[in-house]
Amino acid sequence: MTSANTKTKSTASANSPRPFQYPQPGTALHCGMVSLEPLAKRYGTPLYVYSADQIVERLGLFQRAFGNRDHLVCFAMKANSSLAILKLLADRGAGFDIVSGGELQRVLAVAPEAAGRVVFSGAGKTQAEIDLALNAGILQFNVESEAELLLLAARAKKLKRKARFALRVNPDVFAETHPYISTGLSEHKFGVGIGEALAIYKRAASNRWLEAHSISVHIGSQIRSADPFGAAIKRVRNLARQLKRVGIELQAIDAGGGLGIDYHLGRFDAAAKVAEYAAAIEKGLGDFEGKLLVEPGRFLVAQAGALVTKVLQVKKNGKKTFVITDAAMNDLIRPALYQAYHEIAPVRPRSGKAKAVDVVGPICETGDFFARDRKLSPIEPGDLVALLDAGAYGMAQSSNYNTRLRPAEVLVEGSKARLIRRRETIEDLLAPEIPA
Ligand code: LLP
Repeated sequence: MTSANTKTKSTASANSPRPFQYPQPGTALHCGMVSLEPLAKRYGTPLYVYSADQIVERLGLFQRAFGNRDHLVCFAMKANSSLAILKLLADRGAGFDIVSGGELQRVLAVAPEAAGRVVFSGAGKTQAEIDLALNAGILQFNVESEAELLLLAARAKKLKRKARFALRVNPDVFAETHPYISTGLSEHKFGVGIGEALAIYKRAASNRWLEAHSISVHIGSQIRSADPFGAAIKRVRNLARQLKRVGIELQAIDAGGGLGIDYHLGRFDAAAKVAEYAAAIEKGLGDFEGKLLVEPGRFLVAQAGALVTKVLQVKKNGKKTFVITDAAMNDLIRPALYQAYHEIAPVRPRSGKAKAVDVVGPICETGDFFARDRKLSPIEPGDLVALLDAGAYGMAQSSNYNTRLRPAEVLVEGSKARLIRRRETIEDLLAPEIPA
């Protein structure tokens, strides 16, 4: 197989960075065994396409890496909350990290048996969300302040359901990533300072509606080095030791998510990355004997997905060439929001000299771009291009800005592709409105 944009040989195994490949030179870009051309024709563009096989493989990498200890991989479903993908993961034993009542409803809709494998994160939970989660019997509430813990205790008492909680601690560990997605420093809004946690656990110990189940930590997202994860877990592990000394024995430690991928082309060994991450976590955990919870989002789904879009116009303004696509920032906001880089692969590459172009959407905002000064092979109106590594925080962060209908989504499993979400219609969009 020829990987998108390169001539390097690779196989579509767990270790190949992404499932989007040209099976042979001169063929169209495929997702696994399925060509993107007929998919775009059948379902239209812009279209999200995901490889079920890679998502399953990535889950397996985590499950095997922690195979020597009691563990649960809780997919951070904010990365991609498509019901079909949740089902795929739930069927293979995954739990879920949720951040809203809406996300819990998604789990309940598609895999009610997984409710007991749900952890509920987020810096502000409403009473209604807490009640929903208590009634569903979730595994653990990741509580971010003492005030929230008191609210949880009050609702647990009212509903006569004991609440298992983890205090999310802020370990004050720096992790190199974009400032908008870094969370583990004391200046950030997340969690309670690790120095205050012991006292809070002690005060909670006398409440019979609360069970101190775990400590949770999450230091940020798209973190490429394993070291900060190890450093954070070591601090958490020390806190667990202190708690044990005062008679509070935790069942679990929740290491959060955040393991980064490589958005650029080139060698990326997913299995080695997960192994390195697991080794750092294991080292940090030391002799802790309880269960380990991890909350990967991006790593499981990002590289499994692409946004396929059609070129509407190729236009020159002075020295610059703009490739205008039918996808826009409302469909994939990562470049606009985090200056994120996404590889762009022509679905059927044309021969000729590569040229630097800006790939942009049709929205009237200069931030509506996917790439700037990107060297791409010749592109003409009507061509299809794929924005790669769009499986995480792509559709999940899409909007209807400009009254644009959100894309359809297709899941590829082996040689089969199926629609998992139809394209929105204008009727869908207008339905909640009350014009007069
Ligand atoms: N656990 C918690 C508590 C989180 O806040 C997050 C992500 C995760 C797990 C999963 O992190 P991951 O493994 O996906 O890095 N929209 C941004 C990313 C925001 C991440 C927010 N929290 C992006 O497109 O890069």
